[in-house]
Amino acid sequence: MQVKSVLITGASSGIGRALAMAYAQPGIFLSLTGRDRERLAGTASVARAQGAVVAAKPLDVRDQRAMAQWITDEDERHPIDLVIANAGITTGLRPGQLAEDPAAVRAILAINLIGVLNTVEPLIAPMCARGRGKIAFIGSIAGIRGLPYAPAYCATKAAVHAYSESLRGRLAASGVEVSLVIPGFVTTPLNDSIAAIKPLEISDAKAAAIIRRGLDKGKSVVAFPKPLYLFAALARVLPDWVVDKVLANIEVSIPQTAERND
Ligand SMILES: NC(=O)c1ccc[n+]([C@@H]2O[C@H](COP(=O)([O-])OP(=O)(O)OC[C@H]3O[C@@H](n4cnc5c(N)ncnc54)[C@H](OP(=O)(O)O)[C@@H]3O)[C@@H](O)[C@H]2O)c1
Repeated sequence: MQVKSVLITGASSGIGRALAMAYAQPGIFLSLTGRDRERLAGTASVARAQGAVVAAKPLDVRDQRAMAQWITDEDERHPIDLVIANAGITTGLRPGQLAEDPAAVRAILAINLIGVLNTVEPLIAPMCARGRGKIAFIGSIAGIRGLPYAPAYCATKAAVHAYSESLRGRLAASGVEVSLVIPGFVTTPLNDSIAAIKPLEISDAKAAAIIRRGLDKGKSVVAFPKPLYLFAALARVLPDWVVDKVLANIEVSIPQTAERND
């Protein structure tokens, strides 16, 4: 499927920004959103310099009404071929901390799960009516098997994985492709906030290139780096007591998000 119009959330930083760069070229229309005005404008101006036509709008993905309005407007101006639901945050536990703050848990659910629904729902009917389009979800290797360092983050990503798989089966007959992207460690501000060993970490630009290549090929799952993905898949099928024991011996510290649901 030839992609001419791409909508990306979380384009003001990290993987979303790198994806905007990866798609920015003459003949491409980019609809970009994020919260930070200045950083979003920065992404937009680099993408324009690369030849893309860019519309950038600061929005919070939790705002269902504003998201639906903007996405519908963008889709009417230039039908979206590819939407990438990328915006997300992390939250987790410090060593010795037992439970996550309930407010932080609800905030991450609102952004990483409800925010993703707010991004893709407005495009399902129009894409199906056109009989073409691609929906890509940014999941995580942390969504394959629960990790004792970030219960809520893992839960949001597992939910995104399941939603993506369900949607893929449902929309295929309507000509709409659904892809799930499963990244390992990618150097971004989100990843920098996590203190841990980060095997096979790659740059955001490299991650964006892998994602674009996978989506161009129409892959239903774009998982990288492969060894880490296979390791996580193995952890899914090994006895839980073995995996729990191994994970308990790895020191990881993840700060609690400062996000709130208001
Ligand atoms: N980096 C990794 O190692 C890694 C690995 C696996 C999966 N991922 C996933 O990749 C995605 C991008 O993460 P990243 O590493 O690129 O992080 P990042 O650099 O912190 O970027 C996150 C982006 O999401 C946006 N965002 C967060 N909350 C938002 C909200 N309520 N409304 C609108 N936009 C919001 C941020 O906007 P502002 O900055 O403008 O607020 C920013 O543009 C996330 O879904 C993350 O879970 C990352």
